[in-house]
Amino acid sequence: MLSLAATVLGLLEVVRVVAAADDPCTGATSATWVSSKIAHACELNVPFDKARSESVIDSVLKSLQYYSLETWFLDSPNPLIPHHVNVRALLEGVQKRTATVGYKTDWDFNLAITDAFNREADGHTLFVAICTEAFSWNLPFSIATLADSPFDLVAHPTFLVNYDFPNSGRAGLEDYYESIGVHVRPLDGARILKINGVEASTYLVNLATESSIYNGLVGSFETVNPRYMRLNSRYSADTVSGLFTQEVGRFGQRAFYPGADQVTLELQPAKGRPVTVTIPWAATFIRHGNSTQSFIEQTCLPPASQDASAARRRREEKRLATSVSSMNGKRKAVIAPDTPEKLRKQASDQRGFAGSGNTVQPTLKSFGHFITLDIYQLEQHPNVGVVYFEQFEPSDDTGFNEYFDGISNTLFSGLTALKAAGVKHVLLDISGNRGGFIFAGAISLWSLWPKDLYPGFPAVFRDSDLIRRQSAVAAQTENFNSEYLFEFYRDLEYNLLKNNSQFMDPPVPQVVNGVKDAYSKQFFDDFGEGSSSVTSFTEPPFSGQDFVIVSNGICASTCSIFSSYLYQKHGVRSAVFGGTPAAIISQFDGGIKGSEVTDYDSILFELETLGLQNDPAAPQPLPIQVSFSLNFRNAIPYIDKQNGILEYVYEPATKKYQFTVDQFNRPQKIWEFVADQFWGKK
Ligand SMILES: *[C@@H]1O[C@H](CO)[C@@H](O)[C@H](O)[C@H]1NC(C)=O
Ligand SMILES: *[C@@H]1O[C@H](CO)[C@@H](O)[C@H](O)[C@H]1NC(C)=O
Repeated sequence: MLSLAATVLGLLEVVRVVAAADDPCTGATSATWVSSKIAHACELNVPFDKARSESVIDSVLKSLQYYSLETWFLDSPNPLIPHHVNVRALLEGVQKRTATVGYKTDWDFNLAITDAFNREADGHTLFVAICTEAFSWNLPFSIATLADSPFDLVAHPTFLVNYDFPNSGRAGLEDYYESIGVHVRPLDGARILKINGVEASTYLVNLATESSIYNGLVGSFETVNPRYMRLNSRYSADTVSGLFTQEVGRFGQRAFYPGADQVTLELQPAKGRPVTVTIPWAATFIRHGNSTQSFIEQTCLPPASQDASAARRRREEKRLATSVSSMNGKRKAVIAPDTPEKLRKQASDQRGFAGSGNTVQPTLKSFGHFITLDIYQLEQHPNVGVVYFEQFEPSDDTGFNEYFDGISNTLFSGLTALKAAGVKHVLLDISGNRGGFIFAGAISLWSLWPKDLYPGFPAVFRDSDLIRRQSAVAAQTENFNSEYLFEFYRDLEYNLLKNNSQFMDPPVPQVVNGVKDAYSKQFFDDFGEGSSSVTSFTEPPFSGQDFVIVSNGICASTCSIFSSYLYQKHGVRSAVFGGTPAAIISQFDGGIKGSEVTDYDSILFELETLGLQNDPAAPQPLPIQVSFSLNFRNAIPYIDKQNGILEYVYEPATKKYQFTVDQFNRPQKIWEFVADQFWGKK
């Protein structure tokens, strides 16, 4: 008997070991880098849960009433900015399938919802189940589309080994690829002729056009040029500490499973004959959990400690002090960064690269630096200054008041000092700016144009029956935690609203794309009594003609409000770099131009603070971990008003250039070039 017990115990051990070895999530999460095949097997190992999924899709559909672009994006009036998506119908399709045949795995269900929102190509609006982006998917190379001269119409996809990109978090990637016998360094700089058998430019343009979540790509940008640029490597400052970096780009780094485990390239190296190489995708785990069981507990489900009441407490903690400035610290228009936070933190810690090894970092005389803002005077064109607006929110833990003060003070001291140094013209580089605090954009606008009535665009909220009830309760109870309280807003003469009938109750009925819809009256945010409350400038430091926007088209949300305003109100010109290999025209701001984004938790918080959480139309807390945000307000343009919303105003570059081998990772060279193009040698 004894020996039998021992044998049974021994067998159990074996079973346990086999179970661990068989569990794809154990292997996928224990090593720093694993093959995409192993990582994806882990994702697919989470079973579909019908009851849970039904409750998710029910609330997702209810949350659509807050999505201010739903009916607008059914059919775009502007062929240059195509949106033809019925997101409600797509989600109802998911609901039907959930209730009937169901999905193969939990991953397939989650991706179906993500896919519906991703088709909107609206960077503010995306549903991401955390377990579908528990890994970061990477290649050892990036692509830059480069021309011989900035004036060339045609540019060529180029292979760039990305191990040494400054501040891009590639730790351990080279060792991994070397260990599996993939040696890419000798291929650096080769021209890419074909990708997966298709002519390279065509392949990339198709990828950008579709931006399919099933290829691991998030749409986020309105038109194909910025989506194409997002696939590419380009300069920006997107680390946590705001260091200049060379972005890996979405071709070489995806947030979702890239849909295949390898890429085959035909390359033309500088010398010799074309070569064909096949390079596998590598994945790195960026969440928690180490077996399928713990992956589900830690990544898919809300943490056990956060039961309904804890989650409610967490939302309560969002409650901010009751002041206008706190509401300004709440309102955001921003899209997700390309690189996941964990990798951006690692990148920021690798400060070694920030020194001489970093070709991206300008070597110009600084006239001010504050987290996301850099001010320089050019060397070869000393009458030209540069202000690089990297983002409109800090990625570190700087508080919003400190951040707002820093932006205002740095702009005032920097621009004043530039003028004293003889600077007559200023480049405003917004390349890669994802947006941020709406108020940070407003401070920047009022610093440049302190005599303007209002620094931004009029906006409207969507106004369903439930939302109207929310605004009515907010008014009756003077609830300063509600964004639907009329007291936070001003009319189009910039006078504070006096009652809710000037705002949301009654709503303004509209028919959008043939569908009955309703919005609030147009309003302005309350940014204080006037520009003197946010800037020391009393006169514009420069005139509209003295500014030129520099952009790669990747500018969204608050960045778009900022740059659209400069263009529409003050005729500021722009130089746009990059885009598809044959793009003749591009927008300087290719991202979402809606004026505010909200997250799902904030919607729940609003309902709770107003006591409407049990309303039959109210969405409910989701039984999964999710990052879910919606475009919350529409901005109303000053020009091309026939298009209705700012979203549909195409804002073309004054001049369009391609990146060259010499310039693409050296913003300083780009700036000297643009200064020369717009104001000549001096
Ligand atoms: C696996 O994860 C669980 C939960 O996070 C943890 O308690 C456990 O110690 C981990 N096991 C190993 C071998 O890392
Ligand atoms: C709301 O305020 C406006 C402006 O003072 C006023 O004209 C209007 O009559 C008020 N409406 C109600 C319903 O009180």
